[in-house]
Amino acid sequence: MEGQSVLTLLLLATALGGAVATLYQDCGSTAEIQDFTISDCDVPPCVVPRPSIYNVNITFTPASDATELNTIIEATILGDTFPWPGPDGCSLLENDSCPLQAGRQYKYSAIMPVLEEYPAISVVVSWKLQDENDVIHFCALFPIVLV
Ligand SMILES: *[C@@H]1O[C@H](CO)[C@@H](O)[C@H](O)[C@H]1NC(C)=O
Ligand SMILES: *[C@@H]1O[C@H](CO)[C@@H](O)[C@H](O)[C@H]1NC(C)=O
Repeated sequence: MEGQSVLTLLLLATALGGAVATLYQDCGSTAEIQDFTISDCDVPPCVVPRPSIYNVNITFTPASDATELNTIIEATILGDTFPWPGPDGCSLLENDSCPLQAGRQYKYSAIMPVLEEYPAISVVVSWKLQDENDVIHFCALFPIVLV
């Protein structure tokens, strides 16, 4: 991801403050996104205490079939991007499993542990659900502040 778009996102989050702001910026989802929620976060940036466990839920309708779904998470800190360990996607589909069928609605629910040893920093998280053909079904950028 380019530093420019991270900066834009951070400025956007700062400028909007407590006003009506969307939680995330879509970065090329091919699926139709019905819902995206992060626990205890209604306005960006999400403030996440360390240690804690937070939930990311996505309700989406894929536009194409897929046999696999991988969660790819990256954290951008001051323009540098780091991979963040992400869970498998198929196992996180609620009451459902892979393969994914186009046009059918799925709910994905991930639990992310935030460890005490993580630094207290502001990061922009990129969360992607990508299939075996590198099709990106879901892509969101959202700022979080670890405190
Ligand atoms: C996410 O989904 C799980 C399981 O349905 C639910 O327990 C949890 O409250 C949801 N969290 C958010 C932030 O919507
Ligand atoms: C999954 O199944 C449980 C138990 O049958 C039900 O309570 C829950 O609402 C279902 N979740 C979804 C997203 O359909």
